[in-house]
Amino acid sequence: MTSSIAENELQSHFEATISADLRVEPRDWMPEGYRKTLIRQIAQHAHSEIIGMQPEGAWLTRAPSLRRKAILTAKVQDEAGHGLYLYSAAETLGADRGDLTDKLLDGRQKYSSIFNYPTLTFADVGVIGWLVDGAAICNQVPLCRSSFGPYARAMIRVCKEESFHQRQGYELLMTMMRGTDAQREMVQESVDRWWWPALMMFGPPDDRSPNSEQSMKWRIKRHTNDELRQRFVDMSIPQAEALGVTFPDPDLRWNAERGAYDFGEPDWSEFMQVIAGNGASSVERIANRRAAHENGAWVREAATAFARRASTKENAR
Ligand code: 3HC
Repeated sequence: MTSSIAENELQSHFEATISADLRVEPRDWMPEGYRKTLIRQIAQHAHSEIIGMQPEGAWLTRAPSLRRKAILTAKVQDEAGHGLYLYSAAETLGADRGDLTDKLLDGRQKYSSIFNYPTLTFADVGVIGWLVDGAAICNQVPLCRSSFGPYARAMIRVCKEESFHQRQGYELLMTMMRGTDAQREMVQESVDRWWWPALMMFGPPDDRSPNSEQSMKWRIKRHTNDELRQRFVDMSIPQAEALGVTFPDPDLRWNAERGAYDFGEPDWSEFMQVIAGNGASSVERIANRRAAHENGAWVREAATAFARRASTKENAR
């Protein structure tokens, strides 16, 4: 236990580090609230990456060509890696990966709302790459400047790979839009289903975001939910025009005064239902994750036994 004087000095040093835009590292002293917020956000980010493998993974066996299958396989594998970087970042804060998985499976921790929607056609694979990974890029690039070192560094690697994810999705859609009427209709129908859930990815409006203010003060978050949502909308409109699709929002229009697009209000009651576990695919996603965790128990046990035997041998030398 540190004395109160020492604690005040540690708090002042922490605050000076944050205000100088320097990085807090795992061995540094940090306020318990900072640590808890980081574990919450990083763990849920990691859960999102792992659960996020399911929607597109469902199309791996049904990709329309070997090329599409290879691209999709690479992307889904990347998401697994993103999850591992992020669980590792959470472990530097003293979190236990098994405990985080338990919290996910029993609903004490969340994962991104977007992954609770079904992927009904192959156009969804393109729209997820374009809009969902595009939204993730909007949200994750600022996190490369997050105040916690391991999180920021994980984001640098993640963002490089997300750019490939977004481009492959957009290229898939561009190919379909140059195809038949049926393919063009499939793309538009998919965009209509994913646009509003993509806007909800950024979290509730700022006036209903209990964590944002403190996370911004600690420079864990560098922009608010609404700021990033606006950035995503402004970025997506020209891309939609180039693709030849429209967004299902009658309120979408350029506001010259603001220098940004005005857009409608997402259905926040739907959002609250989805993050409470009542999304169209919520039950399936957690059931699949639970089955994968249970089926993988033997691998964890074998790895643990091997590591234990190796260390016993090492100590016996
Ligand atoms: N899905 C699920 N829960 C969400 C959510 C979403 N889209 N947006 C907000 N929430 C939850 C928050 O977790 C919080 O609940 P909690 O206190 O139990 O954790 C509550 O709703 C209130 O939201 P706040 O805005 O107060 O919470 P935050 O300040 O944490 O902001 C966030 C939410 C913007 C998602 C922030 O946590 C964040 O930036 N996280 C890192 C990025 C991330 O997790 N992205 C998820 C997608 S991963 C991905 O896209 C993979 C890519 O490869 C496709």
